Amino acid sequence: LFWSRIVIDFKPHLKLAHALWKDLVKPGATLIDATCGNGHDTCALAKLKPSQLFALDIQEEAVRKTEKNLKILLDSSDFEKIRFIASCHSHFPPTIFPRSVQLIVYNLGYLPGGDKELVTQVETTLLSIQKALDLVSCDGAISITCYPGHPEGEKEEQALLTFFRSLSPKKWNCLYHQWVNRPKSPSLFFIRPV
Ligand SMILES: C[S@@+](CC[C@H](N)C(=O)[O-])C[C@H]1O[C@@H](n2cnc3c(N)ncnc32)[C@H](O)[C@@H]1O
Repeated sequence: LFWSRIVIDFKPHLKLAHALWKDLVKPGATLIDATCGNGHDTCALAKLKPSQLFALDIQEEAVRKTEKNLKILLDSSDFEKIRFIASCHSHFPPTIFPRSVQLIVYNLGYLPGGDKELVTQVETTLLSIQKALDLVSCDGAISITCYPGHPEGEKEEQALLTFFRSLSPKKWNCLYHQWVNRPKSPSLFFIRPV
């Protein structure tokens, strides 16, 4: 039923991801933005009325700037639900219990307008996603947008394809979406427990 409500006409990968999030998330859910960066995705998630939203980024400066911006952009009731954490996403807070998070979001790569060297890395991305598989609830999903147009992004996408292809179809539904007539266009993985 969930899938049948989404119309897959041409949408940039992030618009498609946001449409899937909106369709999936129920008010009161726990959500994680594992790469909050400039906070655009965190802002979209906060508007889905979660009970708690964890926003992580490895760059302390990005996290503080995002916190400041979202305080202005969001209603105070939505803003208060966000916990900003300057940390690598291979370490989630221990207060997040297994099977308790409805949506975990990754927007991989580097921060637009920031230092291109501070890019997500295959090893920590895979470590984090393995942990995310334990945290996601039975009605939840992990959403990952990938950028194969730069070398680290291409490596990451290949590693994710290999990893998700290895998961049991009895336990996981692993969707991979890319506009194949747009070479190296960003892609979207959407992973759900069966
Ligand atoms: C494409 S940007 C995210 C954009 C963001 N979601 C937004 O809406 O503005 C990728 C982010 O991942 C962050 N990042 C890189 N390695 C990370 C890691 N190991 N843990 C957490 N964040 C990381 C970068 O600092 C960067 O801000």
